[in-house]
Amino acid sequence: MPAVVYILKDGSERRVEVPEGTSVMLGAIQNNVPGIEAECGGCCSCATCHVYVEPAYADKVPPPDLTENDLLSGVAAERKPSSRLSCQINMTAALDGLTVRIPEKQSL
Ligand code: FES
Repeated sequence: MPAVVYILKDGSERRVEVPEGTSVMLGAIQNNVPGIEAECGGCCSCATCHVYVEPAYADKVPPPDLTENDLLSGVAAERKPSSRLSCQINMTAALDGLTVRIPEKQSL
């Protein structure tokens, strides 16, 4: 099963196995990884599941669609080129080891 490495706000890391087809957001919620709020439950309408994809994985993750791109304009923490909504990244075997950094805040 592929794994996601979550870098928490305090700099510590949590490595969690996340089944293929399951989102990076759900992987965090189901494993009590703190810092991802996911108020809308994954329907791409809240922008409280913001993460920064680490550079090594930037080219492996499919780019955001228009809806996600629009929502990223409203994230509470600074938006960076590596910003993504974690509910829109579904795990695949090719993403094994995907490392994402959780921002300092998810809501204003
Ligand atoms: S959980 Fe709401 S946009 Fe991702």
